[in-house]
Amino acid sequence: MSLNLGWIKPEEYSFNSLLLMERFQLGYALGREKPEFRQALGIALGGNPTVAWYIKHRCPEYAATVDKLVASAPKVVSADQLRQAEIYILASMEDFVIYTTPHKMVMGCDFIRGWDSQRLFDLAGFEGKTVLDIGAGSGRLTFAVAEKAAMVYAVEPVGTLREFMRDEIARLGIDNIRVTDGFVMALPFPDATFDIVMSGHVVGDHIDEELAEIERVTKPGGWMLNVPGDSEFDIGPWEELTARGFEEIHYVGSFGKDVHIHRKRK
Ligand SMILES: C[S@@+](CC[C@H](N)C(=O)[O-])C[C@H]1O[C@@H](n2cnc3c(N)ncnc32)[C@H](O)[C@@H]1O
Repeated sequence: MSLNLGWIKPEEYSFNSLLLMERFQLGYALGREKPEFRQALGIALGGNPTVAWYIKHRCPEYAATVDKLVASAPKVVSADQLRQAEIYILASMEDFVIYTTPHKMVMGCDFIRGWDSQRLFDLAGFEGKTVLDIGAGSGRLTFAVAEKAAMVYAVEPVGTLREFMRDEIARLGIDNIRVTDGFVMALPFPDATFDIVMSGHVVGDHIDEELAEIERVTKPGGWMLNVPGDSEFDIGPWEELTARGFEEIHYVGSFGKDVHIHRKRK
């Protein structure tokens, strides 16, 4: 969960946005230890019993935490204090919040709107290949590659983003993209399935386990790619990947900031 990415104006979002989130996302929020976050969450959930009910039933492992947060929050707060607490939580979860509005994500996220797909095509030959995009999001990499590849599989754990991609596939009449649920550490495919496995802004939390799973589904001789988009902030270099045998390619992106992308052959 990230902060200060500048992707949303939190005051434009309802606290009901949490009703559109997945169990794993709510779990991240409920597991945060920062005292200010926990107090604001207690106030916000106390003022939004439907959201509290949803979290308790979607994430039963956190039901007691929800009750405790609400019980320990100040009992009487004004409407303004409640809204301030809601906005604090929404801002603290801005990546997950923008995933609830994929159309705004496409416009609002620097890595999507500033990116040139030629950066990806320069990394490997996609013609006729079977490709996997992990954590596909709104489909930045998936839709670009579908113009060249035989088939693209887009794995994405957030339902609102899967629906966005499926709506786009139908609207554009694309017949070589398949969208499915899944996580980078448990990809729903057999060993050695793909010629190319790519992701952007996804790996990093558990790098060795993630790379092992990526390598598992890549065919011998296939490519593993890390392709973030251009950002208003510098991206990389990333020693954790180069230390594990990835080639690092640098360019200056459309916002004038450094971007580092990576590839490795299995
Ligand atoms: C910042 S977005 C990037 C989206 C897309 N890869 C791109 O670069 O345009 C991160 C994406 O990773 C997904 N994600 C988060 N945790 C994940 C996990 N453990 N496994 C796979 N995808 C994950 C999110 O739902 C989100 O769609």
